[in-house]
Amino acid sequence: MAIEVLEIDPKEALIRKTPGSKRFFEEAQQVMPGGVTANIKYFDPYPIIMGEANGSRLRDIDGNPYIDYLLCYGALMLGHGHFRITNAVLKQMMNKGTTIFGTPHELEVEMAKKLIHLYRGIEQVRYTNSGTEATLLAVRLACAYTGKDKIAKFEGHYHGGYEQVLVSVNPPLDLAGEEEEPQSIPESAGVTDYHLQHTISLPFNQLEATEKILRKNADELAAVIIEPVQGGFIPAKKEFLAGLRKITDELNIVLIFDEVKTGFRVALGGAQEHYQIKPDLTTLGKVLGGGFPIGVVGGKKEIMEISSPQGKRDALDISSANVKPSKSDVLFHSGTYNGHPSILAAGLATIEVLEETDSYQQIILATERLKNGINDVFNAYRVPGKTIGLGSIFNVVITDHPVQNYRDMVKSQIGLRKELDYELLNLGIYTKPLNRYSVSLSHTEKEIQYTIDAYDMALKRMKRRGIF
Ligand SMILES: Cc1ncc(COP(=O)(O)O)c(C=O)c1O
Repeated sequence: MAIEVLEIDPKEALIRKTPGSKRFFEEAQQVMPGGVTANIKYFDPYPIIMGEANGSRLRDIDGNPYIDYLLCYGALMLGHGHFRITNAVLKQMMNKGTTIFGTPHELEVEMAKKLIHLYRGIEQVRYTNSGTEATLLAVRLACAYTGKDKIAKFEGHYHGGYEQVLVSVNPPLDLAGEEEEPQSIPESAGVTDYHLQHTISLPFNQLEATEKILRKNADELAAVIIEPVQGGFIPAKKEFLAGLRKITDELNIVLIFDEVKTGFRVALGGAQEHYQIKPDLTTLGKVLGGGFPIGVVGGKKEIMEISSPQGKRDALDISSANVKPSKSDVLFHSGTYNGHPSILAAGLATIEVLEETDSYQQIILATERLKNGINDVFNAYRVPGKTIGLGSIFNVVITDHPVQNYRDMVKSQIGLRKELDYELLNLGIYTKPLNRYSVSLSHTEKEIQYTIDAYDMALKRMKRRGIF
């Protein structure tokens, strides 16, 4: 690849080539707080505004092309605008005469059967509109099932944007206490002491310390919620997850695998397939919607059935008004768009393609090739960078030390990684700075090689600028 060797600061270079994004962002800030609709989409000096996409490619509004490894935070496993998804959605809307029935329909059952077949922990499902809603419902189910009112989550794990889980996602280490007994730290304005008292923090990949905390709080703990692969890229140790399963069983604590990132990506049947562990509840999202918003809670029938409205008092039923509340009331779950048929058509098309011979393997092989290529480039420059991950997601971490949890990530060379990301953005490799990489069926051999070459060029530039 012929790449001009620039020796100016990469952020400055990015500003020079994205005047349209800069202008647009100035306007955006007038009408949206911080100029974004999701805080995660902001980065310095301003997010790049995309105008078009196709396959593994993005093009910004200034016409600059990028190979996309953000892929809508992992959702687009077939890439942008895959014809099978587009066709499935159009067919659903044209042949069935509507975008949404607003009633039960056939695809809800079709998708449910598919998920029950693929995910060992799923016996029944409920649909939601996002991963956030899915974990929210899973936590409520766990509280109702056990009659307890606290949950435990692991430090550094993200489960969506509501108070009970906006705890210790990226806590400052000087506030977060001992590694083996992390403190619960609020992650947002509006997270109150009540939530901190009801969400206990756990140390990921440390079985003994986790067990100690769980035993101490067992009488109050309804659930442990976990990303079985932290942030989608730090794998749980096998014996850690197996031990967690055993302890939660013994203590009558519902084990929730939040597979919003790992679902379909670590294996078709998620991390639970990879680890051969059956959680009590599973949450899914992202890939499942083929690029449209969706979430799912699936799990043991005896837990899921609590939300069955048959013969029970329900919040949206006026005839319940004179029935006294009781512990056997239905667990409330509703949503105008739950089980949206156009979205389920997109999701079913996605799974269909992934199940076809070679598709899945092709994505895994492309990911492995990219990871190996990046590792080789780091070695060549004697920079202690490495790729970490399972299946078709990984992250690039620059450190000499093993990475097993959030604190190891914080101690890695984050500044260097950021510098590298801005160099790569200039070279047309897109992921949000510091974000993980996801690979799709649309990434070709040529694009993977281009990316590896771009890593080489980025490190060459950094070396010339005396960054390492
Ligand atoms: C593990 C995990 N859980 C939950 C969520 C929230 O999903 P959503 O953004 O669809 O609300 C995310 C989103 O990134 C996630 O990665």
